[in-house]
Amino acid sequence: MGGLIYFSSGSGNTARFVDQLGLIAGRIPISPKDEIPAPARPYVLICPTYADGEGRGAVPKQVIRFLNDPGRRALLRGVIAAGNRNFGATYALAGRVISDKCKVPVLYRFELAGTVIDISRVRAGLKKFWGTECLTMA
Ligand SMILES: Cc1cc2nc3c(=O)[nH]c(=O)nc-3n(C[C@H](O)[C@H](O)[C@H](O)COP(=O)(O)O)c2cc1C
Repeated sequence: MGGLIYFSSGSGNTARFVDQLGLIAGRIPISPKDEIPAPARPYVLICPTYADGEGRGAVPKQVIRFLNDPGRRALLRGVIAAGNRNFGATYALAGRVISDKCKVPVLYRFELAGTVIDISRVRAGLKKFWGTECLTMA
């Protein structure tokens, strides 16, 4: 299976989601002083949304820094976006922004730390996704 990379702020919702998945995952640090992971194989990114009222700033700064590196960007295969439906039109907007910029699919969206249904869907979905990816590469 491919890799998993995620960002989670101090509120830790996405980190709780990833813990529940029970898969090995690299974390993009909150502090710009800490080392950013360098994925060695294709990965899916899980990213929460932090837009302002106009939809700006949806992708957290540290995630932008991470994706600004062409080597890291080249290995990105898909994005899973987190958010909160209370934000209406900008719900999980970070997924759409990353999808448009990096030309990868939005694989799933979930609210806050996700539900047990989200966890099982994402687990099954990732398995299937990496399965087809391997077939394409064969
Ligand atoms: C300042 C702020 C802005 C946010 N903007 C959005 C938004 O535009 N759309 C959305 O779906 N969620 C938005 N959220 C909700 C977060 O994406 C959500 O709480 C998420 O679970 C945070 O993940 P984290 O705790 O891992 O950082 C916002 C949260 C904060 C604190």
